[in-house]
Amino acid sequence: MRILGIETSCDETAVCLIETQGSFGPGFSFSILGNTLYSQAALHAEYGGVFPNLAKREHARNLVPLLQSMLKDAGELEAADMIYHIDFETLLEREPELLQQLPPFLERHKKPAIDCIAVTHGPGLEPALWVGINFARALATAWDIPLVAVNHMEGHIVLSMMAGSGLTHFEFPVLSLLISGGHTELVLSETFGSYNIIGQTRDDAAGEAFDKVARLLGLGYPGGPEISRLASQARNERLTKSFILPRPMIHEDTLDFSFSGLKTAVRKIVEQGALTETTKQQLAREFEDAVADVLVGKTIRALEEYGAQTVLVSGGVSANTHIRLCLGEALAKTGGGTRLLAPPPEFATDNALMIALAGYFHALEGDSTDPSALVARGNLKLA
Ligand code: KG4
Ligand code: ZN
Repeated sequence: MRILGIETSCDETAVCLIETQGSFGPGFSFSILGNTLYSQAALHAEYGGVFPNLAKREHARNLVPLLQSMLKDAGELEAADMIYHIDFETLLEREPELLQQLPPFLERHKKPAIDCIAVTHGPGLEPALWVGINFARALATAWDIPLVAVNHMEGHIVLSMMAGSGLTHFEFPVLSLLISGGHTELVLSETFGSYNIIGQTRDDAAGEAFDKVARLLGLGYPGGPEISRLASQARNERLTKSFILPRPMIHEDTLDFSFSGLKTAVRKIVEQGALTETTKQQLAREFEDAVADVLVGKTIRALEEYGAQTVLVSGGVSANTHIRLCLGEALAKTGGGTRLLAPPPEFATDNALMIALAGYFHALEGDSTDPSALVARGNLKLA
């Protein structure tokens, strides 16, 4: 099957075309025919976080050019004169920019060999999600192919289960640590597609904490990679600790998290006086250590409480080498032989491959959605 994945839940505009074979299991394989992504991060940098209306505008501006260049890479861009008896004005009435770009593009190109469209319908920023949904709807209607709605977090999970061009060999139950800009959750899956949220953040998400602390330290957006860079400089230079930050809720008898106190603790240090390059590195290191300690502590607690054959880490923050390393070490120490699954670092942050993959498994189960009934769900939960 050939699936087009579309992702616009936050500040990455992405489209990807994959070809897949087999069902969820050892016989599954996929290949990427085309994959394009435009990150708006630099545009949001001055706000220190994602500005929803800017994200919406940029998605609308870039989806058609990205689709075009992706189809070209996939060898699926063929000129043709097409006539559509479709009311694009109504379909795209909320998306003037797409209305201007998409119908002419469709009318000038042959329908590519695509069997199904998978699009993120939540969670995320609703104005941003809507652009992807309206785009997907118009394509599914014009090309007359099924549309599948994908939960963005399930996309992150599915991608962590892949290795090379197939599924990693692992056993259920799977305990997933989902750490992104908007989420910090521990989720238990007894089978593929079942999700039981057993712990979550009560305030800021892990990625949000990285972004806010980076802002306090005068670093760029997204903050995760910036903090991580300074922290590893501190480790390489063996800078001794000069700050101690709290490990919020680490000893409390709950699987929930809280990161806002950590950010407040950093703010207080910053307010005490100007930081030098060295003290910034030390503080970044201590912050990264504190986040890692809490994430690892809660994951091990969940493993002890619920048991799992496999631990999976996913979401943008899972790009963090130090956090991955600490998780791996802690799991090895338990001696239980639990496997750790993580996405390839270049696919840890948002992308459309994860949406295409998750969409495929739903398509196999016949989970297609009526295009006119599809809506953005900013707070969509895994269920
Ligand atoms: O999954 P993602 O791309 O978008 C959401 O679904 O939210 O995650 C983005 C988050 C941002 O907060 C970013 O700062 C964080 O992931 N991030 C990192 C790293 N790379 C990205 N956090 C820590 N270390 C990193 N290397
Ligand atoms: Zn994400």
